[in-house]
Amino acid sequence: MNLDLKGSAALARALVDGLGKPFEGPEIMVAPPFTALAAAGSALKGGPVRLGAQDVFWEEKGAFTGEVSAAQLKDAGCTHVIIGHSERRQHFGETDETVGRRLKAALKAALAPVVCVGETLAERESQKTYRVLETQLSGALKGFSYAELAPLVIAYEPVWAIGTGKTATPAQAQDAHVFIRRTVANLLGQPFADSLRILYGGSVTADNVDSLMAQPDVDGALVGGASLKPDSFLRIIRFQAPVNR
Ligand code: PGA
Repeated sequence: MNLDLKGSAALARALVDGLGKPFEGPEIMVAPPFTALAAAGSALKGGPVRLGAQDVFWEEKGAFTGEVSAAQLKDAGCTHVIIGHSERRQHFGETDETVGRRLKAALKAALAPVVCVGETLAERESQKTYRVLETQLSGALKGFSYAELAPLVIAYEPVWAIGTGKTATPAQAQDAHVFIRRTVANLLGQPFADSLRILYGGSVTADNVDSLMAQPDVDGALVGGASLKPDSFLRIIRFQAPVNR
């Protein structure tokens, strides 16, 4: 719930200008609030930055006041959608079951889903991180075939690191990502897990992105606060990858 319409469009334009043309680099997606999707989408048109939403409802249409469907997101120009962000889980009653329902709707509409998982501080301190990740993953991915889930991206976002300035150490991120990959391999097979992109999210900044991205199982970043300023977001996009990665 950041930026107004003008601010979102200006940020999108600054991003496109900053990337220049032709752009060679990682895949980039931005997920502004629903109200700014169309404005940001038109600023991004024809460029390398994809548009995503921050949530999607599972029904296709009908009397669901306040909700937005996958088809409506597509219509607004979205190619991606974030599902199960911890703030949705914490404040709005999102469960693994509803994450699964949203995932199904996104896949059916050919929206690439970015499914978020992550433990709270209390869960980490009581050694429940792996159990939480396993429950969230198996709960959300249950009932899908690996072929259906081909566009899936997972974001590991430890709740204690989101918006707090307390980033996971590169070793903590790597450890959780390895566990996530192993869990996904058990659910969907090793080849699927090997090609799955797992993003790290939680206080990613221009200063820590290089060391996080240097981890072999960290395939990208889901960035909140540091994406709101073009300079820091551009620096994150241009992370310095170690040679031989
Ligand atoms: P942050 O947010 O980068 O500000 O910690 C991450 C998120 O909300 O996913």
